[in-house]
Amino acid sequence: MGATPPRILITGKNGQLGWALARSFGANAEVHALDRNGLNLADTDAIRRCCREIKPTLILNAAAYTAVDRAEQEPELAMQINGQAPRVLAEEANRLDAAIIHYSTDYVFAGDATEAYLEDDPTAPQNIYGKTKLVGEQAVCEVADRFLVYRTSWVYAARRQNFLLTMLRLAMERDELRVVADQIGSPTWVETLADFTHAAVDAQGHLTIADGIYHVSANGRTSWHAFAEAIFAAIPDPRRTAKRVVPISTADFPTPAKRPAFSVLSNQKIEFATKRRVPDWQEQLAGCAADYAQNA
Ligand SMILES: NC(=O)c1ccc[n+]([C@@H]2O[C@H](COP(=O)([O-])OP(=O)(O)OC[C@H]3O[C@@H](n4cnc5c(N)ncnc54)[C@H](OP(=O)(O)O)[C@@H]3O)[C@@H](O)[C@H]2O)c1
Repeated sequence: MGATPPRILITGKNGQLGWALARSFGANAEVHALDRNGLNLADTDAIRRCCREIKPTLILNAAAYTAVDRAEQEPELAMQINGQAPRVLAEEANRLDAAIIHYSTDYVFAGDATEAYLEDDPTAPQNIYGKTKLVGEQAVCEVADRFLVYRTSWVYAARRQNFLLTMLRLAMERDELRVVADQIGSPTWVETLADFTHAAVDAQGHLTIADGIYHVSANGRTSWHAFAEAIFAAIPDPRRTAKRVVPISTADFPTPAKRPAFSVLSNQKIEFATKRRVPDWQEQLAGCAADYAQNA
């Protein structure tokens, strides 16, 4: 008889990451992927009930309140989902002797660095979303017996809602696009994040690398403006009406939530732990473009 496959609870099933994780782990695990109807992270009792019913051996917390600007108007709800729910999930994981992998963000940093951020660099979130995510990752680190926190950045996929799909849509509607050129970061294809999650879990659902925070974003750096131009080059479409991508500054495009100017994360720690190289953002974009073409 073979070993029992791990029982994995994935939150945020329809999100970019939840979707990719369910696909990536589905073949070799008993996956319970839940949307917010199946598990509402704003409801502490529901989290406890759900964990006690499913009894996962591994929890992948892919759900989050990700509406960065709206969070400025709904700080309590954002805090419940991003700050409190991870703590409850971590407590339940301990109760079940399970591990938890939680996801966090480059927005925990101030964004005024000039070198890629390391895991131990001081945090100083500049907006509500970042503050709530910081509370969540700290809770997991403090409470969970077995855990990983993956901080990532500028996540996109060929489905759902993200910068790449917004650019492709707007390029069909407008004559020119104006895109911020003075924010620097690393656009991360969600499949890379799913791959590196997979790489840290063995066939029994146990973590294969040491507990802690790890940065898992694309290697290399770019601006939103240069990323937009790269997207149009990677996914050509003769029907596009937009002929130019005009670089603008953050000051030209005010948003309710302040964004970090520089949020490049160093991937050295995860690369050393998994003995795998994280692909450059250009390579990741090519992967997503192929995925997009397949499903177009
Ligand atoms: N997207 C980025 O650029 C980015 C950057 C850095 C870090 N991250 C982090 O990466 C992780 C994955 O993000 P993502 O890009 O996959 O986000 P996403 O596509 O916005 O998905 C978030 C998921 O969370 C679910 N959700 C929201 N409120 C919920 C609630 N009360 N109860 C249960 N589920 C709820 C959403 O449900 P619905 O489908 O019903 O809306 C959605 O499925 C998150 O931890 C995020 O903070 C993301």
